[in-house]
Amino acid sequence: MEFLRTKPIAAFQHDLAHSSLKKGLNAMDITLLGLGIIIGTGIFVLTGVVAAEYAGPGIMLSFILAGITCGFVAMAYSELAAALPVAGSGYTYTYSTLGELIAWLVGWGLILEYSVGSATVAVGWSAYLTGLLKSAGMPLPTWLTAGPWDGGLINLPAMLIVGVITLLLIRGITESSRVNKILVFVKVAAIFIFLFLAAPHIEPSNWVPVLPFGWHGVSAGTAVIFFSYIGFDCIATAAEETKNPNRDMPIGIIASLGICTLLYICVSATLTGVVPYTELDNAEPVAYVLRHLGYSFGSALVGTGALCGLSTVILVFLYAQSRAFFAMSRDGLLPRFFSRVNPKTNTPVEVTLVVGTIVAVMAGLTPINIIAEMTSAGTLFAFSCSLLGVMVLRKKHPQLPRPFRCPWLYTMATLGFVFCVYIFSNLSMHTFEFFFSWLLVGGLIYWFYGRRHSALQVGSAAYEAHQAGYRADAQAARTQASE
Ligand code: ALA
Repeated sequence: MEFLRTKPIAAFQHDLAHSSLKKGLNAMDITLLGLGIIIGTGIFVLTGVVAAEYAGPGIMLSFILAGITCGFVAMAYSELAAALPVAGSGYTYTYSTLGELIAWLVGWGLILEYSVGSATVAVGWSAYLTGLLKSAGMPLPTWLTAGPWDGGLINLPAMLIVGVITLLLIRGITESSRVNKILVFVKVAAIFIFLFLAAPHIEPSNWVPVLPFGWHGVSAGTAVIFFSYIGFDCIATAAEETKNPNRDMPIGIIASLGICTLLYICVSATLTGVVPYTELDNAEPVAYVLRHLGYSFGSALVGTGALCGLSTVILVFLYAQSRAFFAMSRDGLLPRFFSRVNPKTNTPVEVTLVVGTIVAVMAGLTPINIIAEMTSAGTLFAFSCSLLGVMVLRKKHPQLPRPFRCPWLYTMATLGFVFCVYIFSNLSMHTFEFFFSWLLVGGLIYWFYGRRHSALQVGSAAYEAHQAGYRADAQAARTQASE
């Protein structure tokens, strides 16, 4: 059955050998790319609401639970990213193991993670900017900073930030990575300054009771706070542009996840330790706590850090989206247009522009907070499928060179799968309905387009292109042998 067909390992090796993407990243860049995307709205915005409404001081447990889940996933992703270092992340991994339809649905789910995610973060960016300008005595009118469903006309700052980052991505991966480094430095510095100023004021009595909403509050909080970890998987989409993916990928993925988990636990412990959790019910809890302590510059400082933080999240999400489309198009599941690489910049300019435009429009007009949870749903789906995929790959291709082998793989991947499904089951009913409708639409597109144009479909244009590539490879090998 065609929807069960899997992409052969040799085909990945062919794609890799003929990749037109530039290899410019090392382990440090990968770690910073990870910090760039992981630290953002989750810690700067969601922590307050989750502490106040869901978990109380137990938010620390929510962070630990989500962190452990991501740890299992990270180990599996590291093995996959090192063994199959091609663009596409979860989509690519499932294509080689669980079959074309599931791979397509994972890619389709990743659109929720990357595009809806970046639009959500852009709206958060706009809120922080508006807040900063207001406290500096330069308020922007509502009609310019909120979409039509939120009492305004258009969210211009959100659109502008997406536009600027899209242009940056078009310039090239090296430039993007350089800007990312500076922004990551500013946001991590803002977090450290917060910890340095606030931690000495912790009153342990504020941590009692630890679980005011019981365990249910902790698990419901985990489903929301999971957003703060989303993104470490995007790093794997950069495998094809990494100098030494076998070594750099596992280091980058595991290091960035470990650093973030530690920072999140410290920040949430400090927030709930300094003020009673009931007071944290606002969109800027970190700035709030600093103001509460009398550090009046705190709001501006953290606001600036958050602006930098959110910019890097948008940058890596947009990057990951264009690379996922690139991989799907190269396989024929999307039109060829999505995998065209500009010879001057070595980046997929056209698809980056399309993604940037769509995300800018979403950010400018859509009531994005309603569908923010969708980001988590799409991500958890991709994680679950990739965890199954890594086990299947071990069974099906035991001989495949694995520069990084996940220790106790079957236990790790099974636990990761169970944790992902558990967190997924804590999402709201509304999210379930929307997510399954999304998958249904994706399934129809696959049926009418992807299935027929797949590079694995004999006779399709993509198939012919791949065959031509293989013939050229074989010819080159023969010529080399005869010399
Ligand atoms: N993890 C990213 C954030 O918290 C998506 O903004």
